[in-house]
Amino acid sequence: MNDTREKAKQRIETLRLEIEEHARLYYEQDAPVIDDESYDRLLRELEMLESAWPEFAASDSPTRKVGGKALGKFEKHPHRVPMLSLANAFDEGELRDFETRILKRLEPDADTAQLDLFSVPKRPAIEYVTEPKIDGLSLELEYENGRLVRAVTRGDGTVGEVVTRNVWNIPDIPHTIQALENVDVFNLRGEVYMDREGFEALNRRQTEEGSKTFANPRNAAAGSLRQLDPAVSQKRPLRFFAYSLGITTSDKPASQLDFLQTIATWGFQVNPLHHRCETLDEVMEQYRKLIELRENLPYDIDGMVVKVNRFDLQETLGQIAKSPRWAIAYKFPAIEKATRVERIVVQVGRTGAVTPVAELEPVPVAGVEVRRATLHNADEIARKDVREGDWVFVRRAGDVIPEVVSVILEKRSEDSRPYEFPSHCPECGSELVRVESEAVTRCPNRDCPAQVLESIVHFASKKAMDIDGMGRKIVENLLATGEISTVADMYGLTRGRLAAQERLAEKSADNLIRAIEASKTPPLGRFYFALGIRNVGEHMALKLAQEYPDLSLLAQASAEELETIDEIGPEVARSVTTFFADSANRLLIERLAEAGVKPQAPEKQKETAKTSVFYGKTFVLTGKLSTLTRDEAQDRIRALGGRAASSVSKKTDVVVAGENAGSKLEKAQKLGIEVWTEEDLVARFGEEA
Ligand code: IVH
Repeated sequence: MNDTREKAKQRIETLRLEIEEHARLYYEQDAPVIDDESYDRLLRELEMLESAWPEFAASDSPTRKVGGKALGKFEKHPHRVPMLSLANAFDEGELRDFETRILKRLEPDADTAQLDLFSVPKRPAIEYVTEPKIDGLSLELEYENGRLVRAVTRGDGTVGEVVTRNVWNIPDIPHTIQALENVDVFNLRGEVYMDREGFEALNRRQTEEGSKTFANPRNAAAGSLRQLDPAVSQKRPLRFFAYSLGITTSDKPASQLDFLQTIATWGFQVNPLHHRCETLDEVMEQYRKLIELRENLPYDIDGMVVKVNRFDLQETLGQIAKSPRWAIAYKFPAIEKATRVERIVVQVGRTGAVTPVAELEPVPVAGVEVRRATLHNADEIARKDVREGDWVFVRRAGDVIPEVVSVILEKRSEDSRPYEFPSHCPECGSELVRVESEAVTRCPNRDCPAQVLESIVHFASKKAMDIDGMGRKIVENLLATGEISTVADMYGLTRGRLAAQERLAEKSADNLIRAIEASKTPPLGRFYFALGIRNVGEHMALKLAQEYPDLSLLAQASAEELETIDEIGPEVARSVTTFFADSANRLLIERLAEAGVKPQAPEKQKETAKTSVFYGKTFVLTGKLSTLTRDEAQDRIRALGGRAASSVSKKTDVVVAGENAGSKLEKAQKLGIEVWTEEDLVARFGEEA
């Protein structure tokens, strides 16, 4: 055997074993040790070698198999039609190749048919449906006479595991479908997944119970679905998107779109981001759109599936070994990558919260080089057992700070030691404290230089007081030279003193003075945000400004009163009252006022005549409204000077009861609170207008 040939043979063998091991870890253990991109790379290398040396391609090669084997603990069930996998495209070229292959198959005589030079070649216009590729596990649902009789995992594609009772509580899976009452068999497929919120809640719960946590939502979904005790699965926050038709004895829809539309009316969740595309350019456009949306979706997607819309064309196209010819998975750049933790450091934030951060061997993740990733807090480090020198998966999603997802234990060196969280603040040396009920460790010293710096930087930042030019560097200098020690001092700065600052040109000093001056009349919401009240982010600050159009009102609000407001929970309420109870904060606010800082109440409220029947009253809306949405109603109440709260208490002035109003109405009646109908509400809106 010649050298290259021998080498290829050996490489194929090594790759095969390696891929099989990774597939086992991924599919059977839900504990991968390499990222998806690296796995795909291995698989592609094997595919390439096998096509160059077909004589070495084993019939059971991982390139021909689908997923993991059925686990063996569940009842097995064969799929009447195999559950296939999808071929991947990684760039536009590969997507175009996909179409070229399709066109060729659909018009095998195209080359000869084009002999007539004057006729335009008649390409069948192919319509596609694009759908997000949900990062979960596929599941087949079998309905007999409209009743769900079985749910089966993909398994190896031919035989799966019966998990019917495990999916019984998934809200997106109807148990009975009236429209199918007279249909013997109707099988449908889709993806079981966990949304991010559910995933985080589950991990929190697991931590509290001292159980194993999951590296990502997909693993969590897999681990939750394949529980031998269905009662455990039923408690997990699983969801389901339906996306393809299996075998059925009923009439078939004509296309994927028809299918999706029909099943949506039967109570299935169909992913709302599916889209009909008439050309490949449109497909590309959808791809770009999805990539942009991806980061803010409540669930993980790892690509876009492109499907030929018409079912008759799908049938003509058929399939190759493990995937259909009529569909392809156009993958996204991975957002999870493996890299090494060089060091773990801690950062002190403006509220004193101490955040551990992993300094990483730089790694590109979805187009951005990642060097640092948050480890959140001491509990998280302990839970994930992240250590200096470890190999880890890092994940970057949108604007969210990159985070360490999990440790690749297999790659841990023998002399590694658990990370020890510092006992003292690295900035000021104070002993760090931790409140039992909180996850955060804090530096208790409010004069800690790190906290002072961060809170001033925050105050001046764009979304707060928006003092253009007052960045971290300048603030650092001003603090170091003793020009300022609080945010109020900024308003006493003069041009001369600023210009004396290192590296500050005269012109910038002028601009800065102007920016400081201009920041004196901020919208109230931004001012509330700038104060840096714990747990009061941008959105909450805006909310508070709507409810409390005057700083003195907010300063006097009790926690109980705050809590009656929609969206405000006990934690925020407590943070607000604690903030205003602190004399240092009150003094600071006084000094800001003296310096001429005058926040502006939201426009609408200022205009409101205090004679409005809504003014200063707290409303709770309950039941279904028919002429306007709840949000619209709440907005109008606020615009008229009222407050919209979510729960009924003694502080509630009026309860508006729509259709099917339940316990809130009862409570209102018990407490003797005024009750309005929707008509009353609308009529009063009319009177005010
Ligand atoms: S269609 C013939 N549509 O991706 C294959 N699959 O690698 C039919 N997936 O096994 C699959 N979202 O687990 C399809 N909108 C979608 C999907 C989707 C996720 C998964 C599914 C499939 C795998 C293919």
